[in-house]
Amino acid sequence: MSVRVIAIDGPAGSGKSSVARALATALGWSFLDTGAMYRAVTVEALRQGVDVHDVTAMGELAREVDVTTLPRVSVNGRDVEDEIRTETVNDAVSIVAANALVRHQMVRRQREFAGAQPLGTVVEGRDITTVVFPNATLKVFLTASLEERARRRGEEGEASVARRDVADSTREASPLRQAHDALVLDTTGREVGDAVEEIMEWLKHKTLS
Ligand code: CDP
Repeated sequence: MSVRVIAIDGPAGSGKSSVARALATALGWSFLDTGAMYRAVTVEALRQGVDVHDVTAMGELAREVDVTTLPRVSVNGRDVEDEIRTETVNDAVSIVAANALVRHQMVRRQREFAGAQPLGTVVEGRDITTVVFPNATLKVFLTASLEERARRRGEEGEASVARRDVADSTREASPLRQAHDALVLDTTGREVGDAVEEIMEWLKHKTLS
């Protein structure tokens, strides 16, 4: 694979979005939040009244829908940035993300996106190191204690975060798991900048070796 990708996976609140975004800025690379894509599809399903449990209908919706994550998350040209983190979406997104047809459509777009970036892309999600970019330049698995992850998630609360952890890790289609060759970074009690520095150090060693 010739595209340059730093792949970052980890559970909710482990720091993926903040760390990946800051890392992309520091490197001058593009950034892709794949969770925002699953959330955007969920928002559109709820708006259209499509049953999120209907595997075929959801697969069809995911195939047709136009999803953009930057500069703001939008679906079919409609800005949904503020809608993607509501409680209703938190509850439904794990069901949508467990649908293999939906995943197939999202993964295809994620690969296309990274393939079109001139320098490189920092991509974060749940299956980026294991399924989407198994040959990434660098693979990172972020973790943090459940207490701290729930604190970072604020309103969502520990019970919902824990429930998504279980759903995301036990589903059949591309469950969240640590790739055998991913470098693990525990962000409990660590600043974003500190985590970024550590990953930059790893990248330096990777590209030199
Ligand atoms: O920010 P947080 O980690 O809470 O969630 P997110 O990254 O916005 O992802 C929301 C949901 O999308 C997760 O709970 C997963 O169910 C799903 N997801 C996934 O299955 N695969 C990805 N590559 C990214 C997210």
